[in-house]
Amino acid sequence: MRRVVCPGSFDPITNGHLDIIIRSARLYDEVTVAVLINLEKSSLFTVDERIDILQTVTKEFPNVKVRKFHGLLVDFCKQNDIPAIVKGIRVVSDFDYELQMAQLNYRLSGVETLFMPTNPEYSFLSSSRVKEIARYGGDVSGLVPDLVHKLLIERLRG
Ligand code: PNS
Repeated sequence: MRRVVCPGSFDPITNGHLDIIIRSARLYDEVTVAVLINLEKSSLFTVDERIDILQTVTKEFPNVKVRKFHGLLVDFCKQNDIPAIVKGIRVVSDFDYELQMAQLNYRLSGVETLFMPTNPEYSFLSSSRVKEIARYGGDVSGLVPDLVHKLLIERLRG
């Protein structure tokens, strides 16, 4: 069984995240989407809401499962027998940051990190930009799954 993890905050998931998850699911037997429980950072959606959203938008991919984790990602990987992390790289500055994290994670545990170039259609996209645009009434359709679009409007304007 070839397993990988796609980790993140997913507050909320964007079409850029979804693209990386789907492409990973085509390459590997099992993809675990791991949602970070971060008590220090305020979020728009609770971890359980984010998990529900992720499960809904990935339901047509039977080899994708969604879990939450806290603490170190590599500990989650070890506990779940996952040897590699998949990270999307949007721009060169992502690589700078992700390279250090990948090297640290490898040093800590031997867990590998695989970089996947983001679809250029989404290279400008982030959850925080999506939230900001939606908060001020901008149109985020096409940038996030339809379900997220609907929930963002409800949460931010309603
Ligand atoms: O979507 P995000 O917020 O950019 O995801 C970041 C995430 C969750 C992948 C990263 O913060 C993470 O792995 N956090 C867990 C703590 C950890 O393992 N840190 C790395 C130490 S080298």
